[in-house]
Amino acid sequence: MKVLVTGATGFLGKYIVEELTAHQYQVVAFGRNERIGRTLENDQVRFVQGDFVSYPEIEQALAGVDAVVHAGALSTVWGKWEDFYQTNVVGTENVLKACRKHAIQKLVFISSPSIYAAAKDQLSIEETEAPTKNDLNFYIKSKILAENKIKQYRDVPSVVLRPRGLFGVGDTSIIPRLLRVHQKIGMPLFNGGQQLVDVTCVENVALAIRLSLESPLATGQTYNITNDEPQPFKQILDELLQELQLEQKYISLPYPVMYGISASLEKLYQTLRITKEPIFTKYTLYLLRYSQTLSIERAKRELGYRPKMTISEGIKKYAANYPES
Ligand SMILES: NC(=O)c1ccc[n+]([C@@H]2O[C@H](COP(=O)([O-])OP(=O)(O)OC[C@H]3O[C@@H](n4cnc5c(N)ncnc54)[C@H](OP(=O)(O)O)[C@@H]3O)[C@@H](O)[C@H]2O)c1
Repeated sequence: MKVLVTGATGFLGKYIVEELTAHQYQVVAFGRNERIGRTLENDQVRFVQGDFVSYPEIEQALAGVDAVVHAGALSTVWGKWEDFYQTNVVGTENVLKACRKHAIQKLVFISSPSIYAAAKDQLSIEETEAPTKNDLNFYIKSKILAENKIKQYRDVPSVVLRPRGLFGVGDTSIIPRLLRVHQKIGMPLFNGGQQLVDVTCVENVALAIRLSLESPLATGQTYNITNDEPQPFKQILDELLQELQLEQKYISLPYPVMYGISASLEKLYQTLRITKEPIFTKYTLYLLRYSQTLSIERAKRELGYRPKMTISEGIKKYAANYPES
């Protein structure tokens, strides 16, 4: 089977390519970054340089492909709406149109559980609890609109995955961000870091994607994906800092004050059109303050998904590759 992977040059994308090639798939790795793309090439992987915001580029790349994993996205908490809209909404619609044109057997779309974000503790969230609207930030808004596009193209057999808090070697987002703040001021904690968080080893997400391609039950469904090991935030940080042999430096922050500062900073940055990300956003504060865990019962039942790497194993692997991670 030949699978085109968008976002193949990104963090998750490289793991998807590895997982698929380890299971005898042929892969078309699609992305804009030629330098990274060429490093992915081998007997089973062909790199196609392209931009899915341009319909002809993605349409041509899909010729002769059986299935698509659409993992490419503008995946960050800050930026201009037009950029999120073009990449995550128009880009997804282009992928859908091209899948329709080439009668692709299955499309796996990588969405995000950030769409559940709210200023409250939420435990064991089920897929059906997703809000129809959440304008907390442009990334979330664009992912909801992209999921709506998937629903609109009913004739394209699709699966939506919402994997939470990816971490692993090559991560440029979650752990590096936390470590930068740790280095500057210490690990920020609200509520003593007792909120429960659900994170996912990137290897497990790649596994869930392959299972989604293979499971006949998956078509038309949406699945939460996590490591199924909810833990207090501080417990994970303790383990991470210990494995990295870094000082356990924590800083307790007052939530209402920080919320006020973040909300004001967001307004100011938007008004002045500052593209640099504020140190805290309302979204990151929610992540640092409230519990959010997901039910993955549906993925277990219908995909046969069982995480193959534990959080501890993932942290050890990350530390073994640090600081190159
Ligand atoms: N990281 C997380 O914790 C997390 C959690 C939930 C969901 N997700 C989702 O998982 C997916 C992968 O995330 P990631 O962390 O691997 O992000 P990433 O490292 O930023 O990778 C995203 C990739 O998308 C590609 N891309 C962006 N715009 C493109 C365009 N117009 N045309 C072609 N390629 C384009 C980029 O490739 P080029 O640079 O080559 O253009 C980039 O490598 C995203 O859909 C994200 O929303 C991530």
